[in-house]
Amino acid sequence: MTLAKGPSPLSSSGPRSPGRNRQVADLLLEVRGLSVDYGFGEDAVHAVDDVSLTIRRGEVVGLAGESGSGKSTLAFAVTRLLRDPGVITGGEAVFYEWPEGSYRAADTGGIAAQPRAVDLLTDDREVVRAIRWSDIAVVFQSALHALNPVLRIGRLIDDVLKTHEKGMSRAQRKARAEELLELVGISADRLSSYPHELSGGMRQRVMIAVAVALNPSLLVMDEPTTALDVVIQREILESLMELREKLGFSVLFITHDLSLLIEIADTIAVMYAGRLVEKAPAKALFRAPRHPYTYGLTRSFPSLHGDKKTMTGIEGSPPDLRKVPSGCPFHPRCAWAMDICAKQDPPVLTLHDASGTREVLCWLQDGAHEIPPELNKVPPAAGSAAARPSMRGTT
Ligand SMILES: Nc1ncnc2c1ncn2[C@@H]1O[C@H](COP(=O)(O)OP(=O)(O)OP(=O)(O)O)[C@@H](O)[C@H]1O
Ligand code: SF4
Ligand SMILES: [Mg+2]
Repeated sequence: MTLAKGPSPLSSSGPRSPGRNRQVADLLLEVRGLSVDYGFGEDAVHAVDDVSLTIRRGEVVGLAGESGSGKSTLAFAVTRLLRDPGVITGGEAVFYEWPEGSYRAADTGGIAAQPRAVDLLTDDREVVRAIRWSDIAVVFQSALHALNPVLRIGRLIDDVLKTHEKGMSRAQRKARAEELLELVGISADRLSSYPHELSGGMRQRVMIAVAVALNPSLLVMDEPTTALDVVIQREILESLMELREKLGFSVLFITHDLSLLIEIADTIAVMYAGRLVEKAPAKALFRAPRHPYTYGLTRSFPSLHGDKKTMTGIEGSPPDLRKVPSGCPFHPRCAWAMDICAKQDPPVLTLHDASGTREVLCWLQDGAHEIPPELNKVPPAAGSAAARPSMRGTT
């Protein structure tokens, strides 16, 4: 049993190399003990509570949870885009900036590349801003509102390249803009279109083209396809995964739709009432959940593949985050709640099985309690075809 509380704060004196004993391997983003409130005092909304989450190079991490569970707040906080009255009350978010050309493991040619570690929460605002442009790209839900209606698509992409790729000539920028549009499946002659001349799906593709324009190593996507119909949504996700294979970036994909994540994610993290309640390899989490809330979520969405099951949803409503229930915040809605659940915070338990390692925030999994069969299913073994995201290749 491991308790993942109490991160050791890094100094905030600017970018630095990771300590000699620190195993960064292929880490890209390491969030530790992050807590975010909206407002102060008794009325403060505890939107994110002691969340730890890592993203590795090339990994697709899905973040799921009901509305109001803190998913967007987490994304805003780690990209330093949190606005008033949001306040970061604890934790760190370390981004590892790897030298160019070392992005894929094969590119290092056997030489161990060393990244620069930047704390996105506390390091100099200008350093973080530069990283956010060059290394981290953010795509939010409403492309229609995000695209300036009076600018043609070509001008929009050109502005990004002009600002951040100073060495590029006008002709090079045009060629790059054409290439970017075609990368996301839009004909290059659409560069002269205005946003209102494009469908919702095309606008979202343009947003993705803008996001990958500067070759980021991390794409943060917050409900990017929610407003689109299922067919278009699927086409966009397929293009996104093809792009990921080509360019090698990592993705933090936020959605309330767990079944979508099964298609694309390597790892899924589930949030409830500001806490991260389970994190596991995607298929293992979906087929063999260990947390009662994850179990409820898996029964709230039809899967596009696999066995048919009855949709039951989760009874009750999420709590008011100004007055989070004591102990486990899920206890008022949990079918398996025990006495201890209302009294003591469950620890973060690290579990190992054939699917790999997972973390669960639940008393049932501490080894001292009987685990109900619903939360004790056999997960697909790591590396097996059954463990692979459906829309992804074998890499
Ligand atoms: N500006 C704000 N001021 C006060 N409370 C806020 C603010 N923004 C969000 N909250 C609250 O913080 C909590 C987390 O909100 P957040 O938007 O991060 O959830 P979410 O998981 O992204 O939800 P959704 O799926 O609806 O997008 C909610 O209780 C929300 O009401
Ligand atoms: S800690 Fe208790 S209340 Fe919370 S999810 Fe586990 S069993 Fe249910
Ligand atoms: Mg949100």
